[in-house]
This record gives sequence, structure tokens and C-alpha cells, in this order.
Amino acid sequence: MNYKKKTILDADLKGKRVLMRCDFNVPTGDDGAITDDSRIRKTLPTIQAVLEAGAAVILCSHKGRPKNGFEEKFSLKVVRDRLQELLGIPVELAADVVGPEAREKAKALKPGQVLLLENVRFMTGETKNNMELAKQYADLAEVFVNDAFGSCHRAHSSTVGVAEFLPAYSGLLVKKELDVMGKALSDPARPLVLIMGGSKVSDKIGVIDHMLTLADDIIIGGGMSYTFTAARGGKIGTSLCEKESFDYCLELLKKAEEKGVRIHLPVDAVCGDHFAADAAPQVFADGEIPDGMMGLDIGPKTAEAYAQVVKNAGTVIWNGPMGVFEFPAFAAGTEAVAKAMAESSAVTIIGGGDSAAAVEQFGLAEKMTHVSTGGGASLEFFAGEELPGVAALLDA
Ligand code: 3PG
Repeated sequence: MNYKKKTILDADLKGKRVLMRCDFNVPTGDDGAITDDSRIRKTLPTIQAVLEAGAAVILCSHKGRPKNGFEEKFSLKVVRDRLQELLGIPVELAADVVGPEAREKAKALKPGQVLLLENVRFMTGETKNNMELAKQYADLAEVFVNDAFGSCHRAHSSTVGVAEFLPAYSGLLVKKELDVMGKALSDPARPLVLIMGGSKVSDKIGVIDHMLTLADDIIIGGGMSYTFTAARGGKIGTSLCEKESFDYCLELLKKAEEKGVRIHLPVDAVCGDHFAADAAPQVFADGEIPDGMMGLDIGPKTAEAYAQVVKNAGTVIWNGPMGVFEFPAFAAGTEAVAKAMAESSAVTIIGGGDSAAAVEQFGLAEKMTHVSTGGGASLEFFAGEELPGVAALLDA
């Protein structure tokens, strides 16, 4: 995949209206308030740079997965409010996305002013990359900028289609994501260590297969590790298990040996008798989890061994927690890996989603080289797939 793309720094933006796709798909609590605004904050440098270049900015994004047009809980009003606070200037919201109100507001924009369109997924056709809708977005502006790394794996009207009608540049966040993660794949400081966790092997096959051609070490933890244990004949009690992935696991271990990639599997597990924060934690050796007990975290010996691998690494890429870190009694393994990464001098990259939430929870995000804003997007990136939202941008 070519990730050398033209950026806003290559564009003449003076006096132009710039349509900027962002990923403002931020989590919100039961009261509708934003619980983590990092996706908004990380887009600010691009918005500010475009404004400083003398342009007017029309921001757009999706939030959630609305199916039937407008729904209050998917509205970007909360994002508009946060943007106003962070930018310190008024941000208008166009409630009809690309309708008459949006067109009028876009036309009236002066350099230095900001307009936000309502959730692009309120529009029929957005997620189908409908080209008529893409043309309607394009008609609002003269230049397109994509700073929505978290949505670059989606071929939608506001990420891909619109780039057919306007010169399309990458924003500074997309550039940073591609630069850091691209180097980790194409020219990594070695040893290159991949840490895989999360519940399912089947969700991560693409990444593991691709990284098997690049990595020196692959560490396996989290719910998916019990499938590896069971595939090798170990006892896993009531732990997560995907029987249909047994053959894949065994073949992977064989392929890794042939290629000289070191695979690290847990040697012990912290278990509970049910899936809840109040389950009493008990440690068992890997493959010896009794009936009625389920693995909810890697054990202390495993955590120590994994921390040692991280300590000696040149580059570490982490995707997926080592256990149920949301439950304090089962967070130690995930925290130990996060701490080892924070203390290491290696290039440390956190794939988005749960691992990003974990390092935030432990207060270690600032200690990492890079915390990606893309969950699904970073998974596809590390699986070596072309991201359509990136492919659509002008080549450098
Ligand atoms: C994400 O949160 O991973 C992105 O915003 C993409 O959201 P989606 O999976 O609904 O396309």
C-alpha cells in the first residue's frame, strides 16, 4: 500500500472552502455526554492549520451506526459543543447534513470560520459510497481533506466517493498515523514484537498472518489465548474457546517455527468462577484450568515473561487486552504489559479500540510513541490491507 500522500501542507488553501472528514465517533455515556474526547482533540492541529492557511472549514463525521435517518443519540450536537470549547470560536451545525441549510451556511462561510455538518450516516447512501451523495458533499467546498484515520477502512461517500470530485489531501492526524505505523511495518527498529489479545482468534487472523512475515516475536494473550491452549490439548475450564480455529492455531505455531518467529503463549492464568468484577481470582498453570473456572487474565509468571520480551524490543505493536481489564481483580496482566511498554525505549504503538482504552485507564497513553485513533482501521492496516480512504487521496 502506498501511504505517501499529499497533505494539507502541499495544498493552496487560501480563501478556499475546505471539506474535512473527521472521525468524531466518540464514546458517550447514558446522559449523552462525551466520555473520551481524544478523537476530537487529535484533529485540532489539522483544523487549526487549515484555518491559519486562510481557509474556511466544513467539518463532517459519522457517529455510531444510525439506520433510519436522524436519531438524537447519534447527533453531533455534543461534538459541536466540545469543538467550540476546544477551538475557542463559534462552530455552526448544519442539521440537514447536505440539504438547503447546509448549502446556505457553507456558502456564507468566511475564511477562519467553521461549520459542522450533522452525522453523515443520517444520509441514505453514505455507507454504500453513493456517488450522488458524494457529489453533494463536494459541492459544498473546493478542497477535500481526510483526517478521519478511524474511518479510512470504510469506502463511504464521505471518505472515498467525495475524493472523485475534489482534490483530496490527507490531514495531519492521518499523516502521523501513516508515518508512524507505516515505518513500524516497512523499516522497524528490531526486534519487532506484536502483542495480540482480545477475545477471538478469528478476528485477528489477518493481522497475525501478515505479521508472521514481518515480526520477530508474537505474544498471545487475552481471551484468544485459551483457544490456543485448548487446540494443544490443554484444559481451559469454561474459558473462551473457538473450536473452529483449532486448526488455524496449530498451523500458525508450525509456520512460526519454520519462519523463526518466536511465539509466546501464557504459562499461567488468573481465573474466576464467573464473568464478573466480584469473582474471586485464582491462579492456575496454563492448560490446567479446572472445570467451572474461566481464565480472565494472564497470570503473574506470564506477565513477567511478556514484560521481559517488551523490554528487549525495538518496536512493539499492541492490539487487544491481556484480560478483562475493566474488572480491577483481572487488570494486572494488561497493566503489566502497558507499564512495560511505557518504560521501554522501544517505539511503542497502540492499535486503537480496547488497547487504547486500557492505556488511557492506566494513565499511560502519554508514555507511548503513538496511540492510534483507529480500531478497525489499524487492524486492517497491520493486516497489510489497503485502506480505501487513504488510497483515494492524491499521491505525494
Ligand atoms: C471506529 O470507531 O472504529 C470508527 O469510527 C469506525 O466506525 P464503524 O465501525 O461504525 O465504521
